[in-house]
Amino acid sequence: MILSASETAIAQAAQALRDGQLVGLPTETVYGLAANATDDAAVAQIFVAKGRPADHPLIVHVASVEQVALFAAQVPEFAQCLMAAFWPGPLTLILPRQSGVATASAGGQDSIGLRCPSHPVAQALLLACLPLGVWGVSAPSANRFGRVSPTTAAHVQSELGSDLLILDGGECDVGIESTIIDCTRGEPVLLRPGHITRGQIEAACGRIVLDKDAPQALLGQPAPRASGTLESHYAPRAKVRLMTAADILHKLQALGPHANNLGVWSAKRPASDEGFGAGVLWLQQATTAGQAAHDLFSVLRDLDARGVTQIWVQLPPDTPEWEGVRDRLQRAAA
Ligand code: TXA
Ligand code: MG
Repeated sequence: MILSASETAIAQAAQALRDGQLVGLPTETVYGLAANATDDAAVAQIFVAKGRPADHPLIVHVASVEQVALFAAQVPEFAQCLMAAFWPGPLTLILPRQSGVATASAGGQDSIGLRCPSHPVAQALLLACLPLGVWGVSAPSANRFGRVSPTTAAHVQSELGSDLLILDGGECDVGIESTIIDCTRGEPVLLRPGHITRGQIEAACGRIVLDKDAPQALLGQPAPRASGTLESHYAPRAKVRLMTAADILHKLQALGPHANNLGVWSAKRPASDEGFGAGVLWLQQATTAGQAAHDLFSVLRDLDARGVTQIWVQLPPDTPEWEGVRDRLQRAAA
């Protein structure tokens, strides 16, 4: 059931979380499937609903930095800088976990992922939860495991059914999941690129951001598991192929009138003499990384819903601001 996010609906959702139920939650990145982070039985239902293996840890969403100490045993100075610079916002920090807290959510890790979302509905819900003794909310993206993340309330309902209480907070602004920085290994390590770029992270904390496969010598601890970092993820039903704009045109021309059930997401609409015909469904790819990220998952979902069997995507430039979009596209195509 989709509820417009009024004050009453937010209060109802907070009660539902306190009572151990799941809630579909809008955030500025993608919609989440939320449960009380310290209620292991409630969190277990998230894994069932998503079909997600129980050893894949979830991100805990908090109202502000004030709740961090309830979940994290220790916060390195560079992580404090990152919170000050980017919270509330689309940045998740992996920190050493307080022992015995949010065990199911952490999926067996001794660390915890924390994020303070900026979406006004997420903020309002997290604040409404505090007086009820719900100190944080575990929420993975509200999609079936391995599928495309939802960026509208209707997407969540189509993934998880109409029994779920879903707060409608409109379309997500950012459109791809938060940037994840592992802060447990002595230096910031980029686990998942997102809207906040590695350059912005480096500028805010004055440290070089390492890659997750950086040599062990640079890092104290082995890398944690992260499902968003699996090679194949964010997959629509149609087969996704990444190509240059020139390749798309060549292949369209080669197919000519034989093109059938083909989706194309590229920056320039092909002309009819470039092979654009009735069998081709073309959608405009934005030329800015922010807009393309915003559109990405709904484009994949939309083309899927229209029954295309292949989606040809123009590969965006290999520049820092496009890292998050390229990452999701490469996984969708894997
Ligand atoms: O933008 C987002 O982060 C969205 C919204 C709903 O907030 N959430 C999201 O959650 O993307 P999910 O579960 O789809 O992705 C969480 C990622 C996974 O790759 C998971 O493995 C990683 O965070 N993660 C969570 N806790 C971790 C931990 N303790 N150590 C390592 N990775 C962790
Ligand atoms: Mg996800």
